[in-house]
Amino acid sequence: MIINTSLQVRPHWAGVTLACLVAGASSCGERSEVPPPFRVVAEDAFDLPLVGVTSQQRTLFNEGDRLFGLPFRPVDGLGPLYIRTACGACHEEAGKGPGRVTKMAVVESDGLTPSADQSALPWGHTQRPYFVAGATQPIAAPTGVSLKLSNRIGPAVLGRGYIEAVADEEIVRVEAEQASRTDGIRGRINRVEHHSEANPDQPFHTLKKGDRNVMGRFGLKARSATLDDFTADAFMGDMGLTSLLRPVEPLNPDGLTDDERPGVDLPLLTVNQVADYMRLIEIPARVPNATGSALFARTGCDGCHVPSLRTRADYPIAQLAGIDAFIYSDLLLHDLGEGLADGVVDEQAGSRDWRTAPLIGVRFMRNYLHDGRATSVEEAVLAHGGEAQMSVQHFKALSDSDRDVLLQFVQSL
Ligand code: HEC
Ligand code: HEC
Repeated sequence: MIINTSLQVRPHWAGVTLACLVAGASSCGERSEVPPPFRVVAEDAFDLPLVGVTSQQRTLFNEGDRLFGLPFRPVDGLGPLYIRTACGACHEEAGKGPGRVTKMAVVESDGLTPSADQSALPWGHTQRPYFVAGATQPIAAPTGVSLKLSNRIGPAVLGRGYIEAVADEEIVRVEAEQASRTDGIRGRINRVEHHSEANPDQPFHTLKKGDRNVMGRFGLKARSATLDDFTADAFMGDMGLTSLLRPVEPLNPDGLTDDERPGVDLPLLTVNQVADYMRLIEIPARVPNATGSALFARTGCDGCHVPSLRTRADYPIAQLAGIDAFIYSDLLLHDLGEGLADGVVDEQAGSRDWRTAPLIGVRFMRNYLHDGRATSVEEAVLAHGGEAQMSVQHFKALSDSDRDVLLQFVQSL
């Protein structure tokens, strides 16, 4: 959503004249003489910039927002293979879905355990169904091998600046605390290798390509450390748009190394602006609900969906520095059991492991969990297995009215 400083109100009688032309004048002459007053319709807006946004930040936000919604074309460097043409196709209005990615993994005969030999997938684990720029084949599922297919719906990208700003020591502290719990909750940091070249134009991190032991926090299995890294990866992997941070086109069956736009497709500025847009999106305003949050804690949801974590004092966006970020996640990986396993390994994250989903903007979601299989929050909770088993038992043991209050609370986040 692009934010203007001036309010745009569309009178709801604006369509009358056209309707009259279409329907013939007989039915509508009188109505248009006395137009009803303008009305502001209350909106529960979610794709809004941070409270206290400066005019410079608002400009960045709007430019990034525009690029986020923009469909890219082959002349811009789209392809040779791609999944969708715009970020917004999978993160509509910065929310969850509807676009998705299909993952493939070669698995053992149990249909679940990732096989040591993944050579049947020489072009990687991601299906890329569309092709342009001289390509002749998509990346699709090979036949003759035991394969697990799974979907990943684009998660909401609301409040991602808060997530990036969380201090490393906070995540380390929560990991250490969980190591001594007795309820089975034992999260782990996904320590990853950094895949982006250094980004000289961004003050947000000083990581270099090849740095190891970097703390992953973005992605469903926490495989990326920063928003620039994830953005460059998304442009490259989902759209075939290379940038200085990810200069190489993804491997493909035709062996193509370039597309209609020779060389690197995007200026670094584009990556930075899109990353800045996501950094500057506010967490949607929530109504305090003490009973609901008490039940959330009593049921053990807060063991993983930690309500708030402290951010770095030196994070370059002042509004996000040195505050409690209410992200409802510990940013750790948890084994959620076989039911949710996808056979995909992401650095230290195994098939059954998922990063605790940040509960930001839940009230705007229509489907839940990494593949959107749950159509209600209750279904999502009941699908949690593994480390969340005890919490699910507490949930099932709640009285009907307490369960309703808890669900209402989660649905309002
Ligand atoms: C084809 C659908 C699709 C497109 C297009 C797409 N994404 Fe995503 N996005 C996803 C999926 C699926 C995930 C989860 C990925 C994973 O963990 O493997 C994701 C994850 C993310 C995340 C991590 C969020 C978090 O909670 O950790 C960010 C940030 C993001 N995308 C930004 C972008 C940007 C920026 C673009 C455009 C350059 C983009 N995405 C394009 C589907 C898409
Ligand atoms: C052991 C850690 C753990 C506990 C305990 C836990 N969760 Fe989760 N939760 C997760 C993880 C990990 C995911 C992501 C799973 C996936 O995407 O498949 C998740 C996903 C969710 C989602 C879906 C969010 C989305 O973006 O789709 C909701 C809603 C949710 N949890 C609510 C709860 C509630 C309510 C409780 C308590 C009854 C709870 N969780 C307990 C780890 C946990």
